Amino acid sequence: MMPRRGRFITLEGGEGVGKSTNLAWVADHLRARGLEVVCTREPGGTPRAEAIRGLLLDPAGDEPLDDDAELLLVFAARAQHLARVVRPALERGAWVVCDRFTDATFAYQGGGRGIPAARIAELEAFVQRGLQPDLTLLLDMPMEAAQRRLEGRLERQGGQRDRFERERIEFFEAVRRAYLARAAGAPERIAVVDADRPLEAVQAELGQRLDAHLEVS
Ligand SMILES: Nc1ncnc2c1ncn2[C@@H]1O[C@H](COP(=O)(O)OP(=O)(O)OP(=O)(O)O)[C@@H](O)[C@H]1O
Ligand SMILES: [Mg+2]
Repeated sequence: MMPRRGRFITLEGGEGVGKSTNLAWVADHLRARGLEVVCTREPGGTPRAEAIRGLLLDPAGDEPLDDDAELLLVFAARAQHLARVVRPALERGAWVVCDRFTDATFAYQGGGRGIPAARIAELEAFVQRGLQPDLTLLLDMPMEAAQRRLEGRLERQGGQRDRFERERIEFFEAVRRAYLARAAGAPERIAVVDADRPLEAVQAELGQRLDAHLEVS
């Protein structure tokens, strides 16, 4: 008998809202319910797609990255990731939990860079062929507070700001607005979670959202 297709869960939100921190928690929560879970991220998730991520995030060099080239690189990495990781996992019945996906493209390349949503939707249809996340957890908080978290992480762990993290506050505000507009347009898929709270409160709500999804599916 063919296994039932797994579920595709994405975590979204601006820089420093807690996506990576909560991804591990979401995976543990699902594993505790006996599910096979694959954790991954975009852009990236395979060696070649991670190489494309490097091109996208590298702030170095005096050659600016063209906005359309940026968009196409995001979808090139996505095609590779879907083919090699996401579709095979879903087909064997695993649950895939992914740090960022196409809502991030609408938020960053759409809202942030100003590329029309219709153009992004064309590439989405081409690359995803109808595949959409079953549930998206959108971690939302004011950008100033998220920036302070990011600064805390940079101080503790070191590292450099990447090409996106060097953008101006207006860019991040546009990203946040675009994310919230996506959520308003797909309320049955995208759950907006207030991330500007202690981790325990955020995770309690994430657990409720996941359990509600497990019940209906
Ligand atoms: N609810 C919270 N309260 C306080 N600090 C938090 C909370 N959630 C995460 N943090 C801290 O904020 C910092 C950023 O979190 P994290 O790296 O998970 O964010 P991210 O969304 O993955 O960021 P990026 O977009 O850069 O990948 C980390 O130092 C993390 O420990
Ligand atoms: Mg992260």
